[in-house]
Amino acid sequence: MNKVRFGIIGIGKMGSQHCLRFTNGLIKNAVLTAVCDISPERKKWAEEKLAPKGVAFFDDYKALIDSGLTDAVLIATPHYFHPVMAIYALEHGQHTLIEKPAGVYTKAVREMNETAAGHPELVFGIMYNQRTNKLYRFAKELVESGRLGTIKRINWIITNWYRPQAYYDQGGWRGTWSGEGGGVLINQCPHQLDLFQWLGGMPVSVTAHAEVGKNRNINVENDVTAFMEYASGATGVFITSTHDFPGTNRLEIDADKGKLVIDGSKLTFTELEISETEFNATNKKFMPRIPSRKIKKRIGLLGQAKMFLFEQHTGILNNFVSAIINKTPLIAPGADGIKGLTISNAIHLSAWTGEKVEIPFDEDKFIAELEKRKAEEKENSKKRA
Ligand SMILES: NC(=O)c1ccc[n+]([C@@H]2O[C@H](COP(=O)([O-])OP(=O)(O)OC[C@H]3O[C@@H](n4cnc5c(N)ncnc54)[C@H](O)[C@@H]3O)[C@@H](O)[C@H]2O)c1
Repeated sequence: MNKVRFGIIGIGKMGSQHCLRFTNGLIKNAVLTAVCDISPERKKWAEEKLAPKGVAFFDDYKALIDSGLTDAVLIATPHYFHPVMAIYALEHGQHTLIEKPAGVYTKAVREMNETAAGHPELVFGIMYNQRTNKLYRFAKELVESGRLGTIKRINWIITNWYRPQAYYDQGGWRGTWSGEGGGVLINQCPHQLDLFQWLGGMPVSVTAHAEVGKNRNINVENDVTAFMEYASGATGVFITSTHDFPGTNRLEIDADKGKLVIDGSKLTFTELEISETEFNATNKKFMPRIPSRKIKKRIGLLGQAKMFLFEQHTGILNNFVSAIINKTPLIAPGADGIKGLTISNAIHLSAWTGEKVEIPFDEDKFIAELEKRKAEEKENSKKRA
């Protein structure tokens, strides 16, 4: 294959941006041939913008997949649909790229991963576009090469996802248990939870506190503090909210050979000349400092614009196409989606039950707790109506 024919399922805010990446020629060796949406308004948009370029429209995703017009699909519908549609696509011979999060609960995502594993001839990816950010990539190199040393602590404060009441009042599927399956954890944070595990590995337990509707009139969580323990003895803290302004986006990793801080678009790596363990074994001073050097990296405004236009979503799409044509390794394999979602589900479960949650957790208990919240939400909206 030298040109991949793409279909996009769900052409709302994100899906329509993906469409334009194809029609503006940003995705090499690929062509957009079909789109699907259930909304008449999106159909009209597709008729105006895409039909003149020969892109077919479907209002049923199965009909798009069965049409024979595509080799690959990108799924950009609300989260609950991602595993359902991906399983159908993979079972019908489509290379499949899903938007984040992989799904709402791990049980469905596990089934999707098993289907994908049964089709090794198909490429299966996830839109973890922040994995292309060069600061996180440098951090990954430091972790993988051993240059950072054994991680002792990983902390991320990500409270700059500011969303006012007006955002939640838009209605639709967002910010509800039934439409979305959660709040800040499932909508805004899948990228950070993925990077958290990509850099720090998977925790073995989670203890969390999550507040529902803090300073906002919503049913889902928008303020979370989670404490994680790792098999190595390391610990982690993940804090997020949508009601702090201006908020913070700061990742800190303390390790045996140095400290890494990524604060927004600035990275500082303090590299110790001798590991703390070795230093401590021989040092006789009471209050010493370990000799170190600082490495700094920064993404300026131009770099941020370039990242947004050419490197993040566009980068994942080009990498996905190249994986189909040239067998290039994926930046974000689809099977990885379950990892960040496992942390997300474990945080929810711990906050709901008030208990420490060991990973792997009881997936049926998670679903039962989620269903309880969906039922309460339905009951409350009936009372309001
Ligand atoms: N990677 C990123 O940076 C990023 C950014 C924003 C959104 N997203 C993800 O993209 C997904 C969509 O988000 P959005 O903001 O575009 O939402 P949206 O509501 O604007 O778009 C979703 C579209 O899916 C359509 N849809 C719903 N059910 C459908 C069905 N059964 N068949 C076909 N179409 C259907 C809707 O009509 C809508 O047009 C979400 O999972 C979200 O997390 C990712």
